[in-house]
Amino acid sequence: MASDQHLRKVGRFWDERTTTPLPNRVRWWQSPRIIAHVNGIVCGEKLPGINQGAIRLVQSMFPGRTFHRGISIGCGQAAKELGLVRQGLVDHFDLFELSAERARLAMNNFAEAGLSDRVSISSEDFFKLNVKDRYDFVHWDNSLHHMFDCDEAVAKTYALLESGGCFFMNDYVGKSRFQWSDRELSYINAFRNSLPDECYLTSDGQMMGKEVARPSLKSMVATDPSEAADSESILPSLRRRLRNPRIVTTGGTIYHTGLNDILANIAEASPVLGQALKMDSILNDSGVFQYAVCVHAAR
Ligand SMILES: C[S@@+](CC[C@H](N)C(=O)[O-])C[C@H]1O[C@@H](n2cnc3c(N)ncnc32)[C@H](O)[C@@H]1O
Repeated sequence: MASDQHLRKVGRFWDERTTTPLPNRVRWWQSPRIIAHVNGIVCGEKLPGINQGAIRLVQSMFPGRTFHRGISIGCGQAAKELGLVRQGLVDHFDLFELSAERARLAMNNFAEAGLSDRVSISSEDFFKLNVKDRYDFVHWDNSLHHMFDCDEAVAKTYALLESGGCFFMNDYVGKSRFQWSDRELSYINAFRNSLPDECYLTSDGQMMGKEVARPSLKSMVATDPSEAADSESILPSLRRRLRNPRIVTTGGTIYHTGLNDILANIAEASPVLGQALKMDSILNDSGVFQYAVCVHAAR
């Protein structure tokens, strides 16, 4: 179980990230072309909009279904959960979010949409509460990799799911604490070294470093102790706990780590981005990936 001190630090980190958001297009999820690429892998159609491929997959596995009660841990500002309610896929969500500021904004977002009665939110640690309620939709979106014990998180939430309910995960499942393997680093750096210098220029004329290295564990824990704390355990845990879950790996070695920060210097329509996505797909197909979607009907 995570210490209270670590949990408080996580909450503070995400409070601050909310008040000082990332600049534009420095991460893959800020690129409509990469989002469409990921959706194409998940559902076969390059749909616009974050997660729309995964939602299409849920709809194909649960045709015509509306889930009555969903649970989501690490919801952030709950944009994704609000989207699912608006799209008519889920009626009501119980949300858990450690950052008080994000929890407040999540509530506001539902209120502004006129949907306050469709949500409850808690900033307490889900793992310390003895939640006994039953759900027909378990939602993990880019938060499972922030859990300190991912197997416990999968097991505890899967146990809350009614038979016939949906376990949904869309998350980073790569190396814990971003400790990339030598093989991953060789692909990432071969790609980065092939790019022209202008891709590395900052807005004030400096050059960013080309070579990616493993971050130090000390710096990872000092910044956000929850970052990829136990992410390597996610896929083994899903396979063990859920029995034959539908898992689609969605790449990321190049579009996440290879393009980190420099994406801002590569236009959406650029052939360089096309090449990056091609290389990412080749790696994904050969079992080198960082992200995955899992949709599973509970027995
Ligand atoms: C990468 S953000 C993802 C937010 C949101 N799910 C999304 O996709 O936009 C991870 C979130 O998990 C929250 N978090 C981390 N550890 C948590 C925990 N043990 N319980 C609840 N929330 C947690 C953080 O505060 C942060 O808002």
